[in-house]
Amino acid sequence: MQLRDQHVFITGGSSGIGLALARRAAAAGARVSLVARDPAKLATARAAVGGATFTATADVAVEAELLAALAAAEQAHGPVDVLIASAGVARPGYFEDVPVAVFERTMAVNYFGTLYALKAVVPGMRQRGRGAVVLVSSGAGLHGFFGYTPYSPTKFALRGLAESLRAEMQGTGVHVMIVYPPDTDTPQLAEENATKPAETKAITAGGGLWTADAIAKVTFDGLARRRFSITPGWPVTALAWFGGILAPVLRWSFDRTARRARASAKP
Ligand SMILES: NC(=O)c1ccc[n+]([C@@H]2O[C@H](COP(=O)([O-])OP(=O)(O)OC[C@H]3O[C@@H](n4cnc5c(N)ncnc54)[C@H](OP(=O)(O)O)[C@@H]3O)[C@@H](O)[C@H]2O)c1
Repeated sequence: MQLRDQHVFITGGSSGIGLALARRAAAAGARVSLVARDPAKLATARAAVGGATFTATADVAVEAELLAALAAAEQAHGPVDVLIASAGVARPGYFEDVPVAVFERTMAVNYFGTLYALKAVVPGMRQRGRGAVVLVSSGAGLHGFFGYTPYSPTKFALRGLAESLRAEMQGTGVHVMIVYPPDTDTPQLAEENATKPAETKAITAGGGLWTADAIAKVTFDGLARRRFSITPGWPVTALAWFGGILAPVLRWSFDRTARRARASAKP
């Protein structure tokens, strides 16, 4: 799918992976809309992306706010051709230490924030017989990692949603894609690292560290080829392809890494 003259609507477009996607889309000639909560970050992002970038504030977990932002963006740039749902939060920690409210909020933003956007744009795309939607999951959406009890389920949920929706959209002209980034150098990762257990850091280090721009590149390369599942790097690709078969070995290996990290963290 070519991006030139397309309206690319990106939730979470003011930072990290969403911002890198916005820059690439604008450079390819797209009309870009960005949605996030903080107006100051959005203004900085708008200047960085350049062109006729449209911005609107909304909490994606509040459907009415998201719909208002989408309506304003469509007024400025026309119907959405490509939706990228990148807005997401992660607050790792030991299960017992994380309040239920964090589990609820993470599901509200990561899963329902994506669902509301899809519900809003897919019917129009289907009517027009063209369009693409991109869901941003995570390596933690393919395997439940130590310390990610509030986060992994939200990213697993996106996988189920993408797979079901892809099947329904066959033959409609609407392309469905899901991306599973490993650790990526963004403000979210820096924030996560503040509460991330030592065990989680030791385990996820195996996936390597990507730049947001590298994730944006593989995402748009995949979109151009109308791929369904994008798994950046071999560890996440192996997890996606052989996760079921490898699960017992992975559990054994990650449990051992967690034990060692815990032992070396002890004073
Ligand atoms: N970084 C990683 O290692 C990594 C790995 C795998 C998957 N991912 C996923 O990639 C996506 C982007 O993450 P990132 O690392 O690029 O994070 P980031 O740099 O923190 O950017 C997150 C973006 O989402 C927006 N956002 C957060 N909560 C929102 C809400 N309730 N409503 C609207 N916008 C909201 C933020 O702006 P405001 O705060 O102003 O709202 C910001 O624009 C997320 O879905 C994340 O789970 C990240």
